[in-house]
Amino acid sequence: MARRPLIAANWKMHKTVQEAKSFVAALLPKIAAVRDRDVLICPPFPLIHAVDQARRDTPILLGAQNMYFADSGAFTGEVSGPMLKDLHCEFVILGHSERRWVFGETDELINKKVLAAITHGLIPILCVGEKIEEREQNLTEQVILNQLDLGIKNVPENVIGTMVIAYEPVWAIGTGRNASAKDAHDAIALIREFIHSRFGSGAADKLRILYGGSVKPENMATYMREEGIDGALVGGASLDPESFAKLVTY
Ligand code: PGA
Repeated sequence: MARRPLIAANWKMHKTVQEAKSFVAALLPKIAAVRDRDVLICPPFPLIHAVDQARRDTPILLGAQNMYFADSGAFTGEVSGPMLKDLHCEFVILGHSERRWVFGETDELINKKVLAAITHGLIPILCVGEKIEEREQNLTEQVILNQLDLGIKNVPENVIGTMVIAYEPVWAIGTGRNASAKDAHDAIALIREFIHSRFGSGAADKLRILYGGSVKPENMATYMREEGIDGALVGGASLDPESFAKLVTY
């Protein structure tokens, strides 16, 4: 089955409202001819509304970088699924390695967020990936499958194929040390095989699996040539409209 490629910008904690608006204005003409792939921007929370206004009536999709699993309540500093829906978000990144390793999020917490996102009609982009010491100890496959297994626990079978998984080796994120196309291919094939064995070919063929970690205009095409890699989750190189447009038009 031909899956639609997805190129996702993860802006992390960058940009002002004005910078976000200028970015979208500069990006739009550069990607105007693109019809056969999805383009997603995940700004920090305070910029979501501005990006939503700037992308209205355009094909640009909108997502958040995190959310909490409760709908509302006494959770100072948190943002809920219904709030993201209210802001017209369609996607939410969950389990990003910075959430796991800077903010101490566990697989159990991430799973609760995944389930809440689905309940509210948001598409989760569940991130999985090994640390360098885990790779050196040959634990890569075990770590990826464990994060995946726990992350998608209790997700209804008919929803699995609509999710997005991002394979992001921790050692490749923001380091300039991108994974080889073969390593990315192998990890993504492992993820798809796991989904296939658990849920069958319907889900496995539909599921989009992205690579993330120091993706740049110069290396984007090498990933997209690999069988099974359906797009990229991009941090640093998504901040500049010129560079992000090159990634979209790889
Ligand atoms: P990077 O970040 O492209 O800056 O390596 C990727 C990510 O964290 O999603």
